[in-house]
Amino acid sequence: MIRSRIIGTGSYLPQTILTNAELAARVDTSDDWIVERTGIAKRHIAAAGEFTSDLGTAAATAALAAAGLTPQDIDLIIVATATPDQTFPACATVIQHKLGMVHGVAFDVAAVCSGFLYALSVADAMLVSGAHRTALVIGAETFSRILDWEDRATCVLFGDGAGAVVLRAETGAGLASDHGILASRLHSDGRYNDLLYVDGGPGSTGTTGKLRMKGKEVFRHAVTNLASVMTETLAAAGLSAADVAWVVPHQANLRILEGTAKKLGLSMDQVVVTVDQHANTSAASVPLALDTAVRDGRVKPGDLLLLEAMGGGFTWGASAVRW
Ligand code: UT7
Repeated sequence: MIRSRIIGTGSYLPQTILTNAELAARVDTSDDWIVERTGIAKRHIAAAGEFTSDLGTAAATAALAAAGLTPQDIDLIIVATATPDQTFPACATVIQHKLGMVHGVAFDVAAVCSGFLYALSVADAMLVSGAHRTALVIGAETFSRILDWEDRATCVLFGDGAGAVVLRAETGAGLASDHGILASRLHSDGRYNDLLYVDGGPGSTGTTGKLRMKGKEVFRHAVTNLASVMTETLAAAGLSAADVAWVVPHQANLRILEGTAKKLGLSMDQVVVTVDQHANTSAASVPLALDTAVRDGRVKPGDLLLLEAMGGGFTWGASAVRW
């Protein structure tokens, strides 16, 4: 059978860093509150004129280099983003052009913070079907552009960044010991639209709008939904939490990571934590965390990784990946 294997990872963070102390000078907050309630110490902010497609192109270029491939080797690009440069064209086709590609298929998926899991799952299905051979799956966001910088309840939580993986179709034996994506599970429930949303859009207000969130309620759903989809995904792969080497989670809040790990009986030593360094980068956060753990040598061949995310919609999902 065909398995989609991750053969390269890359990421990019904009140069400008915004610390908690700098935020405390702008809104009624403090470094202590942000660190204690979220684990976040700082976030990166895109420069004027630096767009989501620029961040995504930089992450994709790094992932291609890690895989030892060029854009000519890619026949599919899927970009997960809620902050495309423009309403259309898709950010993926902008990145395709910036990579110098005039072949292949490129499109966006919109599932906010779960976007990378959705994009990975779609790319996996397109590779397993035999329609495509080598994909770039990118999560890229500039949430700084949709934040209300006067709302302390949200502006301290997010940052900009991008992460990418190169996914290649390889032959597997159909066993849980195969390398590559072993199982993915996705969910959504639109009843909760009003707990995390942007109060504008091209088809309603004609403006971009700003992010609005009822954080406490989102938090409550996050731990339950994530633990549930992680268990479901492991079972679909014929595995259990005892088989997991690393959880590579969406980086929204350190307390969510701790709560989820506890529910699965996993140690925080097995959880890749980057939320302290770059806050919540929405669809970019899982591939950013993955790239960090791959490059610092934590992830070893044969390790079982459990990727997971939850976000606006609500949407949530997980993938079990053998390195
Ligand atoms: O990626 C998509 C998924 N998103 C998430 O997963 C986010 C989930 N939610 C969270 O991470 C947390 O709920 C927050 C970090 C957003 C908030 O933490 P919390 O412990 O749930 O705090 P809270 O909302 O209950 O607020 C506690 C207090 C409130 O004051 P009162 O009413 O107790 O007087 C808030 O007004 O903290 C206040 N507060 C702040 N204080 C200082 C809210 N934001 C701030 C702030 N600085 N930035």
